[in-house]
Amino acid sequence: MQTQNIPKVELHVHIEGTITPSLAKKLATRNGVKLDPSVLQYEDHYTFTDFLDFLNQYDMVADCIRTPQDYEDLVYDYLERCAAENVIYVEFFGSKDHGEACGISYPDMVAGMAKGIERAEADFGIICRCIMTCVRHYGHERALPAAQAMIDHPHPIVVGLGMAGDENAHHPKDFAAAFNLVHKAGYPTTAHAGEAAGPQSVKDCLKYLPIKRIGHGVRSIEDPALVKEIVQKGIALELCPGSNLSLGFYDQPEDHPILKLKEAGCRMSLNSDDPPYFMTTIGMEYENGMQLWGLTEDELRGITKMAIEDAFCDDETKAKLLAKLG
Ligand code: HPA
Ligand code: ZN
Repeated sequence: MQTQNIPKVELHVHIEGTITPSLAKKLATRNGVKLDPSVLQYEDHYTFTDFLDFLNQYDMVADCIRTPQDYEDLVYDYLERCAAENVIYVEFFGSKDHGEACGISYPDMVAGMAKGIERAEADFGIICRCIMTCVRHYGHERALPAAQAMIDHPHPIVVGLGMAGDENAHHPKDFAAAFNLVHKAGYPTTAHAGEAAGPQSVKDCLKYLPIKRIGHGVRSIEDPALVKEIVQKGIALELCPGSNLSLGFYDQPEDHPILKLKEAGCRMSLNSDDPPYFMTTIGMEYENGMQLWGLTEDELRGITKMAIEDAFCDDETKAKLLAKLG
């Protein structure tokens, strides 16, 4: 890979979505969980028919997680793979709802993740933090407890709040209480919008939620005034081109608006989202940036620098990461 030597930063990856089929099998066996055979057809990836089927498969695979040790192992496993691709920092989405569905309390889930993070940093030098994430289609009734858990059980690895799930379910204003709660406590926030839903979904998030970044946001390109607002406010787009193509939101690489968004001056990072689902990795996203969209090494290093600046970790950690970038 021509981009191997470029230091990389990932700001948008769902930790439950990083579980490879082999790890899913291992966790399922050790926990006595019977996984639906449809999710284990292939050695290295999963299949789905569309976005909602993807979300459904995702939940079925995540069912193999049952203990804090599982969280430790899956975080470590993912960070080991990232370190091999010269990734220096990962900010992953973790979900209190997925932990609870598997019978794990919030503090136990975070403690398990923290052990995986500490072990990976000691072994590979990779730094990692977690963005606690509510699931939009589960509704605000479950978002508020996730936000409250961050306040009640603060932990140094949890650096912000996010919102994943079906962008067409409910309305961002329903989640304002949860987002404002953590915002007032000093946590930055991000929300998925403008991928499965159009530019209005991005506008609504900007209007009702105190977000600093947008998960995807690619369909903002359909509204020039919105792109201007994003640039003006310095909102960063967490781009996941491989995910967008895999889910069929764009047919061809040339249809993807990454270059137009870049030319317009949008801040951005490159990310894998859910690697084994979309048959990608953070390394492949950088490589595709070069091979498919013609981004130069300098431009890709510039994207890493922007990602560090837009990360939710503290300034001391950012300075450490910027020094590694050189
Ligand atoms: N998009 C939206 N919600 C999600 C995803 C995703 O890629 N992965 C897990 N939840
Ligand atoms: Zn995502």
